[in-house]
Amino acid sequence: MSNQRRPLIAGNWKMNGLASAASELKELVAHAEKHAAPKCDILICPPATLLREMAAVAGNSAVEIGGQVCHANESGAHTGDISAEMLKDAGASYCIVGHSERRADHNETNAVVKAKAEAAHRGGLIAIVCVGETLAEREADKTLDVISDQVKNSLPEGATAANTVIAYEPVWAIGTGKTPTPDDVAVVHAHIRKELDALMNDSDQVRVLYGGSVKGSNAEELMAVENVDGALVGGASLKAADFWPIVATSI
Ligand code: PGA
Repeated sequence: MSNQRRPLIAGNWKMNGLASAASELKELVAHAEKHAAPKCDILICPPATLLREMAAVAGNSAVEIGGQVCHANESGAHTGDISAEMLKDAGASYCIVGHSERRADHNETNAVVKAKAEAAHRGGLIAIVCVGETLAEREADKTLDVISDQVKNSLPEGATAANTVIAYEPVWAIGTGKTPTPDDVAVVHAHIRKELDALMNDSDQVRVLYGGSVKGSNAEELMAVENVDGALVGGASLKAADFWPIVATSI
């Protein structure tokens, strides 16, 4: 991990969590508050229904709150959708865009993801742009091509290290308990950084997270991989007792 890049340990609660889940965030905040000068950023992306309440629980602590997706527009006749401005208004400072579940379940193409990342920036949010290959793509030896395509076509004009984070999440590793080897992760992260070099002036400052079955038992090994600047965590972010050991690798 480069010394200049401040790690980000992010939790994505997906479609999980009722009001009672605030107790998990309170526990996380209590852990974080024991560290006067945390060496990493900590983020929880709860379902939108909990955002405002979670932002209030997080208060001025080191734990930040983010959205899981946003609409490309600021407002309008888009039933059920939520804009980046609304997320910001509810207390978010980040928004995930292009998660593989959105790409697969909601047909979000690279062009859609790019528009959403642009919207996140417009709304004053840091966009976490997700990329990753399917198992079929990996087996066909297409991983690096797929990643190149996603990075080049999902990043909007004006993306900088300050407003954009990349998350490499192999689709086959999400929620499966399977992870690539550290060597495989290193290859993809080095490739992403090379692509970013061609697209952005401050590419060496952009944080590139790894996601997919990160847990307390493998976090240290994964966070030690060159060019890995943090984690995007699904299942193991729901309980503070599971998430904190992952944060602890970087705090
Ligand atoms: P997982 O999910 O940690 O449950 O594998 C990761 C993600 O989808 O961000």
